[in-house]
Amino acid sequence: MITQPFLAGVLQRTRPSDSSGGRCYLHVSPKIWKLSSAVKHLKRCTGGIGPYRWTPFIMPRTKVAQILRETLSGTEVDVRGWVRTKRESKQNFAFLEVNDGSCLANIQVVVDANVPDYAILIKQISTGASVAIIGEVKESLGKGQRVEIHARQLTVLGTSDALTYPLQKKGHSLEFLREKAHLRPRTNTFGAMARVRNSLCATIHDFFQTRGFLYVQTPIITTSDCEGAGQVFQVTTLDLAKLQQFKGPIDYSRDFFGKKAGLTVSGQLEGEIYATALGDVYTFGPTFRAENSNTTRHLAEFWMVEPEMPFYVLEENMDLAESFVRSIVKGVMDRCQADLEFFNERFEPTLLASLQNIVENEFIRLTYTEAIEILEKSGHSFEYPISWGNDMHSEHERYLTEQHFKQPVILTDYPREIKSFYMRCNEDGKTVRAMDVLVPRIGEIIGGSQREERHDALIDRMKECHLDPEDYWWYLELRQYGTVPHSGFGLGLERTVQLVTGMTNIRDCIPFPRTPKSAEF
Ligand code: 4AD
Ligand code: MG
Repeated sequence: MITQPFLAGVLQRTRPSDSSGGRCYLHVSPKIWKLSSAVKHLKRCTGGIGPYRWTPFIMPRTKVAQILRETLSGTEVDVRGWVRTKRESKQNFAFLEVNDGSCLANIQVVVDANVPDYAILIKQISTGASVAIIGEVKESLGKGQRVEIHARQLTVLGTSDALTYPLQKKGHSLEFLREKAHLRPRTNTFGAMARVRNSLCATIHDFFQTRGFLYVQTPIITTSDCEGAGQVFQVTTLDLAKLQQFKGPIDYSRDFFGKKAGLTVSGQLEGEIYATALGDVYTFGPTFRAENSNTTRHLAEFWMVEPEMPFYVLEENMDLAESFVRSIVKGVMDRCQADLEFFNERFEPTLLASLQNIVENEFIRLTYTEAIEILEKSGHSFEYPISWGNDMHSEHERYLTEQHFKQPVILTDYPREIKSFYMRCNEDGKTVRAMDVLVPRIGEIIGGSQREERHDALIDRMKECHLDPEDYWWYLELRQYGTVPHSGFGLGLERTVQLVTGMTNIRDCIPFPRTPKSAEF
């Protein structure tokens, strides 16, 4: 049944196949028409050709971004969004700042007593209310905006109780907003974040698609631990409460998949399957790690982009990673200028300069061994002491990229003990063909390597890493049948959002962060 929550609306005849719209609008006011009589009338006007639909909106919606981009002075528009502020004057008019999420800027709406039911409607509006406005776009005489809308009609779609609405005009802390993840996208900061994230994803796909890479979807549920680090979230339908009563090993043959399964920590291994058949590929999807690290750069659920290229040696892998980072940073600078200026002004005053630096300059490349020497000679006092053979902490990575080189750095040839089993071993017997890309303010943003393509060497490495080659039989077969040198890397999306927005905490770089003890929403 069609309900009519609003005083007026339109009955439309829609012919979706007709690109001209093929629409016949009939303005319906229930004061005059019963809906059934309106339908009858419309049928008469249109010769009975349907289908018909009821909509409370008389005109097509115009987004604020379009109004500001194209100015549109003199045109009538229908704008819908959420009220950020209301300023009422005693002379029977009011200013509304309305945001519809299409851009950072609000549109100012001037509402005066000529608007039907002005006095009633304006009382219903407070911060957070949703409204639809039909009015004319005019050059603004006031300060702060080029254009504004002079309302002819105002509809309050949803009120918002001023006493309880959590987002008041005064700024809120990021910690507070994390607890309001359902409302924080309505703030400038998280609206900007969402737009930047969106543009990053679009640029990432553009980068690979224009280079002929194939987008491959790898599984989220898997039975192999790619990183071999035991940080896998288990997936099971076994009854945990019942299991508790039994002593002894769990019989996974009774579990859903017939063996122990978990959420993927990386799509790389499956990516290699497609790369060694189809050529250059990339995966881009959610990734899960059950590491209990409460840091500003770790999430339990994050998104990773993983290209995998046959016939690439490590140097080509580095070239691709460098042009990838530089080009997606440039892409976001081009697409989200206003949002990045906002982050520069509000959160990180060196942001735009540091992004420009990334786009314009080549990355420094050196080995892990050389980097350790620099750190040891630096005279800097680190919280965690560093020496050859130890994994770097973010403080060491940041020292190298922020203070020593003052630009992004690619470190290669890490000790084999601290890197994953699939990385190609160097002739020195001590290091592997690994590469990490380090950027200012974050540290590691990319981890990658040339892969071990030699069957026997890979088995040796698996044993060294206490992994059972039987569990990786299909991965080993890629080395038995037509093996090729190949390489790839993984870029963390949220760390990249951190990089381009200057936000210090990764929890503010994903819509719904998952961290130890936190999975609300
Ligand atoms: O260095 P990682 O662990 O490498 C891999 O997973 C490889 N299999 C990638 C490959 O070669 N295809 O992770 C890659 C990147 C890191 O550099 C970081 O940006 C991000 O993924 N990352 C995380 N981001 C947020 N939270 C976490 N817990 C992350 N762990 C890794
Ligand atoms: Mg890594």
